[in-house]
Amino acid sequence: MYGSCVHVACIMDGNGRWARQRGLPRTAGHTAGEENLAAVVRAAVRLGVDHLTVFGFSTENWVRPRQEVRHILGLHEKLFGRITELDELNVRVRWIGRPFAERSARTPRYVQRAIAKAIRDTESNTGMTLTVAFDYGSRTEIAHAAETLRRSGRPVTVESIASCLYEPELPAVDVLVRTSGETRVSNFLLWQSQGAPISFAEAAWPDYSSSDLEDAIALARRTSSSPN
Ligand code: IPE
Ligand code: IPE
Ligand code: MG
Repeated sequence: MYGSCVHVACIMDGNGRWARQRGLPRTAGHTAGEENLAAVVRAAVRLGVDHLTVFGFSTENWVRPRQEVRHILGLHEKLFGRITELDELNVRVRWIGRPFAERSARTPRYVQRAIAKAIRDTESNTGMTLTVAFDYGSRTEIAHAAETLRRSGRPVTVESIASCLYEPELPAVDVLVRTSGETRVSNFLLWQSQGAPISFAEAAWPDYSSSDLEDAIALARRTSSSPN
């Protein structure tokens, strides 16, 4: 954490379990999760977070049932379409994931368009940056950086790899959040979260609250003030 910059990164997990506990289909859990993300964005802005980065859909998640995947895609179109709301909050939207032009990329055209529009329309906002990871995998990102360097013939160093990540300006993560009582890391920002504390929340993502977020920020602050 440099100066007042706070970067919170969330693995938004537990939508399926949230729905199952209520006797609802998994898709209902994802819908509730998307709505809660909008609420968490508002809370993050209020609490002075500078960067909120969220794991929306992983490179591994494509193997889920087709109907569930289609539902999640639609929710991302909705999320990236929340431009008025994001403008009101002065939030700038970014995206990380497999570049659309790459053969391995899986993001369908209509989601690509929603992503491009959200980035363009919110570009001049100067408040919090919301980065959504979609069709994202951290290992794939690091491999992509290594391959970029190999092709350009540049030496492979920590600095050169960092400069070839999907979003090189993304600052180091100050606290990594994982919801739904799942106490393990994911394929998410492995490079960027080196040394970051992990805030494990019992709540499933649709129930993750602003007070949970306050706990995570407090953990980031405590950790940044402790020596190496
Ligand atoms: C996270 O919730 C959302 C995505 C991975 C898209 P899950 O769908 O993983 O929910 P659980 O872990 O099965 O409860
Ligand atoms: C993590 O959830 C991915 C997202 C939140 C999009 P998963 O439920 O897919 O988690 P892993 O892959 O088991 O870590
Ligand atoms: Mg899960």
